[in-house]
Amino acid sequence: MRKPLRIGLLGLGVVGTEVARLLTVEQKTLSAQAGRPLEIVAYSTRDPHKKRGVDLSGLPWVASPSELAARSDIDILVELMGGSDGPALEAAEIALKNKKHLVTANKAMLAKHWKHLFALSKKHHVAIMFEASVCAGIPIIKVLRESFASNRISRVRGILNGTCNYMLTSMETRGIEFDAALVEAQRLGYAEADPTLDIDGHDTAHKLIVLAKLALDPDAKPQDIPTSGIRDIRLSDIRDAQARNKTIRLVASAEKMPDGQIVMSVAPQVLDSEHVLANVSGAMNAILIDSEPAGSLTMIGPGAGGGPTASGVLADIIDLARFEIVVEGPLYLPR
Ligand SMILES: NC(=O)c1ccc[n+]([C@@H]2O[C@H](COP(=O)([O-])OP(=O)(O)OC[C@H]3O[C@@H](n4cnc5c(N)ncnc54)[C@H](OP(=O)(O)O)[C@@H]3O)[C@@H](O)[C@H]2O)c1
Repeated sequence: MRKPLRIGLLGLGVVGTEVARLLTVEQKTLSAQAGRPLEIVAYSTRDPHKKRGVDLSGLPWVASPSELAARSDIDILVELMGGSDGPALEAAEIALKNKKHLVTANKAMLAKHWKHLFALSKKHHVAIMFEASVCAGIPIIKVLRESFASNRISRVRGILNGTCNYMLTSMETRGIEFDAALVEAQRLGYAEADPTLDIDGHDTAHKLIVLAKLALDPDAKPQDIPTSGIRDIRLSDIRDAQARNKTIRLVASAEKMPDGQIVMSVAPQVLDSEHVLANVSGAMNAILIDSEPAGSLTMIGPGAGGGPTASGVLADIIDLARFEIVVEGPLYLPR
């Protein structure tokens, strides 16, 4: 048997708990997929006593994310804590500097510190993997990095925030007002801990910048995205749109213009009811890619939640376990 891939797990919230549960309950199957055992060797959370529905009692709990990232007995840090700065960023930096691969679902951190983190990954010959950072269960990062590696991409558009889409479709189909839709999205666990990130469009902008950097321009910057969310959308707006056979969706778009300029935006749009994005309902996400020579691609799938997000995280872990066997150095640097 090959040597295990030793995982330091940072965060046991919605996503981290599901990753830990699957790595425990499906240990044999996942290790077989990876070609070597996948083992959580230590973890960090704020509260070591919280009941989480997963048993890590035999493993060391580490109070400090940075201490976890620096441990000599881990090969990779799986950062599922969140936050663009502070302890998550510090832990990511320490992991990379200590030659540990980084797996993260943290689009806020990637959007803000992309250049810095990838410079560290290059310098220290380790990988940053982030499939779960955009649209959770839709494997869009792999498509852009691998499947479309030969393509010239001209436009990426989509619905990138499950909370907003859930709220808009709840208002539309059940006639509830904005505030009631938000409370419901929070109760169902769709909303980010800070819902302003969702409803003001910033979470969507974070995801768009990751997509734009991969697909269109590594130098795309968050400040280049005019961003407005759904905070001001009322039931009456949705009813007005419906009366004209239209539908309101929060749409993210990044497009390469003929002069090479990248134009990006996040804003509510009034779409024809037949439009593919108008028919994406509930917490689902959708991404449309225009490219040559592949043509147009549409991907629709679950954009949030423990299961779909854990699927992306585990795909990255398995990739690292497989690839570390045959290559050394950073994997999949952006174009
Ligand atoms: N939820 C989704 O559907 C989804 C989808 C895609 C991407 N993401 C991203 O995935 C990441 C995690 O999201 P989540 O929804 O799982 O978040 P969450 O439920 O809020 O969980 C965050 C976890 O981080 C731990 N934590 C917070 N501060 C800490 C600190 N200073 N030291 C150690 N641990 C700390 C928390 O510990 P305690 O439990 O002890 O408080 C908790 O276990 C975020 O970057 C998010 O944007 C989430």
